[in-house]
Amino acid sequence: MRIRWRSRKSYLLLLRNCLLRGPTNIILCVRFCLHHAYVGLLMVLGLLIWWNIAEMNDCGAQRVIDSVCEEYFSKDVSGSLCKVLCETREIQPGVCDKLENGLKSFRHKNLLSKVSSDYELIWPRGNLEEGVSTRKFVAEIDRLIKMELGIANSDSLLNRLLKDADVNSDDKLNLGEAQNLWRLIHQPFFLIFSLFQDLSVFPSINGTCGGLSVWNYGWEFEVNYLFDRHGFGWTFGFISNNSYRWTLPAWNKRAKVMMGLLELTTEFYDRSEGRFHLCNMNGLTLFHSKKYELFLTESSLPLSGPQISDALRNVSCRTWRDCTLTPQCQTQCDYRSRKCTSMLVKPTLSHVCDIMADYLLFDAPSFIKVSLGRLLRRCQRLTWSVPDLDLQHSLIIVDLKDVIWGHIQHQTR
Ligand SMILES: *[C@@H]1O[C@H](CO)[C@@H](O)[C@H](O)[C@H]1NC(C)=O
Ligand SMILES: *[C@@H]1O[C@H](CO)[C@@H](O)[C@H](O)[C@H]1NC(C)=O
Ligand SMILES: *[C@@H]1O[C@H](CO)[C@@H](O)[C@H](O)[C@H]1NC(C)=O
Repeated sequence: MRIRWRSRKSYLLLLRNCLLRGPTNIILCVRFCLHHAYVGLLMVLGLLIWWNIAEMNDCGAQRVIDSVCEEYFSKDVSGSLCKVLCETREIQPGVCDKLENGLKSFRHKNLLSKVSSDYELIWPRGNLEEGVSTRKFVAEIDRLIKMELGIANSDSLLNRLLKDADVNSDDKLNLGEAQNLWRLIHQPFFLIFSLFQDLSVFPSINGTCGGLSVWNYGWEFEVNYLFDRHGFGWTFGFISNNSYRWTLPAWNKRAKVMMGLLELTTEFYDRSEGRFHLCNMNGLTLFHSKKYELFLTESSLPLSGPQISDALRNVSCRTWRDCTLTPQCQTQCDYRSRKCTSMLVKPTLSHVCDIMADYLLFDAPSFIKVSLGRLLRRCQRLTWSVPDLDLQHSLIIVDLKDVIWGHIQHQTR
């Protein structure tokens, strides 16, 4: 025992000397590494991983900005942010946040910049020819919005986009302004986020320049995970299938975030432009601010009905299980034509109730537990084939809010 301890001590001493006085004590280092080759190997491995992470952290933000600014200076593109991005250089490129679905995003403080990652390839093709009349251009934008979002009523979104694109407010679009808008609307998340700018659960736009858009994210409010099915608790799933509960905030706080989710569900159901659905709730990370307000990113996949049925249009099926875009967005199968239809199997609300059952019911205050459980079961059974779905939908939401609010208000009084 004693001997082992001493050898470990000398080992640590060697390591320290090697690390601290490495350059001046090369022989010691070499000796150390010879005796402990595996440590050396680990260090090299660590260095490689660190190098890789540093590489990933870049994702070419500076290159993107340089190329956008080059076009800005040659007046090929414009946008509300071009001045601070290219002239005063107040916006920092930031670190890589994500690189997925053809989208690059980089973060600096509470701002997230997004740009199509193959913009160098797409942009020349997406370039507007000079001389395209404004009316034709606007009609084309309108067509794209309707097609991309699958909505019938695009007037307010179109007007807002045109107004934002008109940087010098002369009620006309010059080539640079039109070019910027053209590039932006080819990025699907951009239209979705723009459509929902009236909802505080989505990030608000800070500005755009040459196809790059910058968004205000709540990072500065210290956005947290409410739950994250890939996160900490779930890695202990092998110990207990309830381990996700270990890291959850207090019941009242979770209830408050869930109220936000219910409100969003109502909003999505009754949206004037068309009905929307949250298609990714299984792997969904629900964020919340310090005030326990809901915060969503595009990974929650808000999609309109037509977007879902469009994605499943050519899929042949035997049961509705074949018509699965995501577990929360499945459509019915037409047994005669063996094709997926546009009829969803379950409304978003019933999936929201699945989440609430997992995250709210198990430790609900005893005097609402029974009624909450009953309501949630009724809600989880909802399908689109229920004849009076509209009525059921709003009744269940009203009842759930009553039960939960009743308790929260009772608590804070
Ligand atoms: C854009 O972000 C900057 C820095 O956070 C902020 O000062 C500015 O007010 C934001 N502008 C808008 C329009 O949100
Ligand atoms: C957890 O495991 C128990 C026993 O295996 C089972 O009865 C229960 O339904 C599981 N709970 C969840 C949330 O999967
Ligand atoms: C469906 O098939 C049609 C014709 O075969 C094709 O034009 C269309 O792109 C396909 N749609 C999808 C989403 O695969």
